[in-house]
Amino acid sequence: MSIGTSDDRSPDGDVFHPTPDLVARANVPVWEAEAGHARQDLTGYWAKRAQELEWYHPWDQVLDESNKPFYKWFVGGKVNIVHNCLDRYTKTWRRNKLALIWEGEAGDHRTFSYHALNREVCKFASVLKALGTVKGDRVTIYLPRIPELIIAMLACAKIGAIHSVVYGGFSVEALHGRIMDSHSKLAITADGGWLNGKIVRLKDMMDEALQRSPTVEHVIVVKRTAQEVTMEPERDLWYHDLMSLPIASPKCETEVMDAEDPLYILYTSGTTGKPKAVLHTHGGYMVGIYATLRDAFDLKEDDRWWCTADPGWVTGHSYLVYGPLLNGATSFFYEGAATYPYPNRWWQMIERYGINIFYTAPTAIRGLMRFGEAWPNRHDLTSLRLLGSVGEPINPEAWKWYHRVIGKGRAPIIDTWWQTETGMFLITPTPVVPLKPGSATRPYFGVTADILNEEGQSVADGEEGYLVITSPWPAMLRTIYGDADRYVKQYWSKYPGKYLTGDSAKRDKDGYYWVIGRVDDVIKVSGYRLGTAEIESALVSHPAVAEAAAIGLPHEVKGTAIHTFVILRTGHNPSDALKEELRAHVGHEVGPIAKPEEITFVDKLPKTRSGKIMRRVLKARAQGLSEGDITTLED
Ligand code: WT7
Repeated sequence: MSIGTSDDRSPDGDVFHPTPDLVARANVPVWEAEAGHARQDLTGYWAKRAQELEWYHPWDQVLDESNKPFYKWFVGGKVNIVHNCLDRYTKTWRRNKLALIWEGEAGDHRTFSYHALNREVCKFASVLKALGTVKGDRVTIYLPRIPELIIAMLACAKIGAIHSVVYGGFSVEALHGRIMDSHSKLAITADGGWLNGKIVRLKDMMDEALQRSPTVEHVIVVKRTAQEVTMEPERDLWYHDLMSLPIASPKCETEVMDAEDPLYILYTSGTTGKPKAVLHTHGGYMVGIYATLRDAFDLKEDDRWWCTADPGWVTGHSYLVYGPLLNGATSFFYEGAATYPYPNRWWQMIERYGINIFYTAPTAIRGLMRFGEAWPNRHDLTSLRLLGSVGEPINPEAWKWYHRVIGKGRAPIIDTWWQTETGMFLITPTPVVPLKPGSATRPYFGVTADILNEEGQSVADGEEGYLVITSPWPAMLRTIYGDADRYVKQYWSKYPGKYLTGDSAKRDKDGYYWVIGRVDDVIKVSGYRLGTAEIESALVSHPAVAEAAAIGLPHEVKGTAIHTFVILRTGHNPSDALKEELRAHVGHEVGPIAKPEEITFVDKLPKTRSGKIMRRVLKARAQGLSEGDITTLED
């Protein structure tokens, strides 16, 4: 069986038409009508969607474009996203409904009704306040996939603190950099987390990171694995101790926020240098993720929704934590690995919990396909109504397997294109849109996209170009935290007034978008976003390395894998042992996900006369392709 990632997507290939039952029950039954409304009256459209949620005080202006590209949404509006996720349900029947179902890797499980979740969030918010956390403070969260991660995020948002979640798979150095950049006063971690039957020692890594992070005054530690950890007196506090003290009051007022007040920052890899903090707000972000999840996934309050993403990435923030609660759904959340202890773990949980909508990444599908159909076929998956995909283009083989074997030929695949920066889906079908495997179909309601050539003109259908977004949307990033220049430069300068996505794409005659991939120095490894600069600077921080270049090359399961080229310092000789050492070094500096697939020792790297490494040339050579225009090559 082939699971290949070769780009054999074809606009003239199979088309999957929506089934009448799904059309009949869809939240948005007629796509054209909704799209037309949004096209004719963008601000009116978003005002209507915002009114579906509760505001403490209505906005005076839907969209303020007076200081582009620093757009503002719902100006003058007073709101708190947590009010709409939890507070507003406490007086309705929904307080008794399950908000969260969680399963640990070892098979332990916990459930929270909306009432119970709200109570935990209130208690923890009171604790945060008692420790001196106030509106606008940054809080770094470095936790495994356990309910306390969600509770901590919501508690921060409730009191107006800005959460900065760091993915538990990132290393000490990455964690340290993010704590320093955000000037966090408080950090939240756990003694450890379970993954593949092993303990990830998060507290030890936090301790190491904090040796050089003077801003952090307190560390709250959740007990998950009960292994021995060192607790620094005064600084470190156990979560369960704090939650049993009188300071953990279940009565805690939700902070009234301006719509434009920051909700969170989230670090993501860019074209150059260190990862940058993307900033999202309470008002517009809330409206955007609420509406997109409701429309694209036809989410209903009686649905059980499962998004497999880690909350440490934007997919987790938007569509695991906030989106399902805004829609009053029940969200399922799993701690561990997809194949632990056997490759049927996910399918078993879909059956056990009766999941209706399942949202995952192409790399996970390809990984699980390798184990064969017998594993999913052992389970009753008929509860599934819709399937979703995100993170990279999905290749047709994986699309069709997912549709046939998991979706039993009935559940459509909602392929959602978006980014950390966009906050919400921007190109996505809904259940009433005909699907073409490998295309995220058309821009969402109110979203206008284009594909441009180098000169800024729209390219003809079928031609490749830069994917841009030409009108603002409510969940858009507002800036890069602490680096507004960078925000303007990176996203709004190549084509003034248009948002540059960093992806290339084609559009077909039906107006469907086919995203090809990143055209900047960002690599998507197993759907995770990494920058060549991070990997290269990790390599050159090793004493044996003089220079390094990283590129992404196609990989059957990962989509793209990291290949690196290294020039050694004199006195160091190439060896397999050194390769292993360098891989481990990158793992330590960035995180296990950044370990290069391949390290090649070279004497020279192709460079421009101004000294810039020509990764494009390395990539072409590695794939045996034409090197293209190399007139700027140094020699
Ligand atoms: C990049 C953004 C969006 C949440 C997870 C990733 C790629 C994402 C798709 C898709 C083709 C996709 C793009 C984009 N990407 N979804 N459905 N089809 N490509 O967020 O880590 O910020 O990465 O992921 O290249 O630019 P992110």
